[in-house]
Amino acid sequence: MWSFLRKIPTPLVFSIGMVVFLVYGWFLYSSIMSSLDLPPPPSDAPYRNSALSVDERVEDLLSRMSLEEKVGQMALVEKNSIKNLADVSEFGIGGILSGAGGKPENNTPEGWRDMANGFVKESKRSRLGIPVLYGVDANHGHGNVPGATIFPHSIGLGATGNVALVEAVAKATGAELRSTGILWNYAPSLDLPEDIRWGRTYEAFSSDPALTGQLGAAFVRGLQGKDQKHLGILATPKHFIGLGSMEWDKSMNNNFRIDQGVTPDSERNLRDVYLPPFSEVIEEGALSVMVGLNTWGDTKISGSSFLINDVLKGELNFKGFVVSDWYGVYELPGGHYQAAVTGINAGVDMVMLPFNYREFVENVVSAVRRGDISEERIDDAVRRILSAKFALGLFDRATAADLSVVGSESHRALAREAVAQSVVLLKNERGTLPLTKEVRHIRVAGSAADNIGMQSGGWTVEWQGIDGNWLPGATSILQGIRDVAGDIEIEFDKDGNFNDVSRVAEVGIAVVGEAPYAEGWGDNPSPSLSDEDLAIIKRLQETSNQVVVVIVSGRPLLITEHIEEWDALVAVWLPGSEGAGVADVLFGRKPTTGTLPLAWPANAQQLPIASDGVTKDGSSPLFPRYFGLKI
Ligand code: BGC
Repeated sequence: MWSFLRKIPTPLVFSIGMVVFLVYGWFLYSSIMSSLDLPPPPSDAPYRNSALSVDERVEDLLSRMSLEEKVGQMALVEKNSIKNLADVSEFGIGGILSGAGGKPENNTPEGWRDMANGFVKESKRSRLGIPVLYGVDANHGHGNVPGATIFPHSIGLGATGNVALVEAVAKATGAELRSTGILWNYAPSLDLPEDIRWGRTYEAFSSDPALTGQLGAAFVRGLQGKDQKHLGILATPKHFIGLGSMEWDKSMNNNFRIDQGVTPDSERNLRDVYLPPFSEVIEEGALSVMVGLNTWGDTKISGSSFLINDVLKGELNFKGFVVSDWYGVYELPGGHYQAAVTGINAGVDMVMLPFNYREFVENVVSAVRRGDISEERIDDAVRRILSAKFALGLFDRATAADLSVVGSESHRALAREAVAQSVVLLKNERGTLPLTKEVRHIRVAGSAADNIGMQSGGWTVEWQGIDGNWLPGATSILQGIRDVAGDIEIEFDKDGNFNDVSRVAEVGIAVVGEAPYAEGWGDNPSPSLSDEDLAIIKRLQETSNQVVVVIVSGRPLLITEHIEEWDALVAVWLPGSEGAGVADVLFGRKPTTGTLPLAWPANAQQLPIASDGVTKDGSSPLFPRYFGLKI
């Protein structure tokens, strides 16, 4: 095929070769120099002027950026993947995150603050000085940080049904985040758990889209603030979209059963049930949304231009930036280059890689050069990211210093109140509750009675939580009972082995439940009480006149065959660090106002229970959604 060249005179071939070589060389040189050798902007560049509008600042900054700098802003990197701190400024990385458990060496509030401040400081050394956005999952308080206030997980907040309370909880969480220099929270979850076998049930407020929309909007308001110059914290409602309605045993992840699975591709269900909560938070001013790791029919959400470009950005008029979930873009087919192209063209603006940023920048830059991604798409993504950064005041804020709000008394008091309001009374016979002053002798037992790790659940210091008693400043449910009981005799034995059987206590309190878990590791074909806990309840019944069962869990458990034997039953979800809130209700210091945020199934055949409360086999659940006795 090259034979035609023979017909061209040699000097001409040589000249053409030289021209091609020079043009290509210049092209390579200029693309490298474009990021390395561009002059720094003047110190009075408009984007540095806090008196200008967000739009003016964004346009000025964008006009100064090289392609490499733009793509760097689209990278979200897990902090442990940054081996060399200088990479943060060299690549102009847009976001850094602590996946749960991604902690600083000095795992204290000071350590967290110094780590976040350190990354921000390094990012400001880049040519344009664009601050990096540091993000965490503060989904029940600043849960990564030992010593922070741990609020009830969302399912408990859903049980309170209290919009003002949820806003206050989010505000307090935001204050603790800010004090450690972290301004981005991957919360609230707007997932709608239809199947309690899902390990993420507790991260959601409710299976009811209406309640979820209200509480989600309240959470965004509490984090971001309203009508102030800068957002307090950037909220990230998630997971767009359809999380909670995945089908059992269709997970794409071999380790899981339902998490990261398949949402049936009914557009009607997505529109009627799953979209409304997202409309509400967008209306509330959310400026970032995370897309889920699930698949809709046979399309992974992170690669669905229809769902992200058309529905979220088009129909819902979302002006913020779309962030993908952990490695979610790379789960798209075709290898890393193609996956990045598909995800970004589908509308993902910031990619939670979360590992190899060098490869990402190279791939995306060459995709633009080759025309696989348009420059307009890159500008649109970066414009959205920078707008959120300016709205957050990231360029204008002083470095975080004061840590006094972390785990403060007022935040703990708020958390205790939230716990009390989240308690749902499901059964109360023989006038067992509330416990009165006439009760003089109480026996307490159960795996969750003196276990702050269990009562806090997953996403507490470690991704999967920690089973045990270890959180600084926290109060176990047992300690809370002791504190509130005053001079009532409280005997405790975890296993319910009370030696003095000649005495029968007036009341036994069995605090039982689930060991901590997170995400798909909590997928469970039959969430129920352990044999050990059931045996403890039996032993307690032998040595106490009446027994109250307190269930500490991230979801309703299958208890139909046991409930008859119990005098009283309360669900306290995953209350967090302030166990005394449970005691407040048991002793009648606080009213029982909590109601079930999702139906409590009688058995696994009823699953899933659709968002309208109807069980799979049409039979009645053990307790319907919004059930809750009052005393
Ligand atoms: C979860 C997200 C979370 C992210 C960052 C993922 O595994 O699905 O909800 O925000 O990790 O920690």
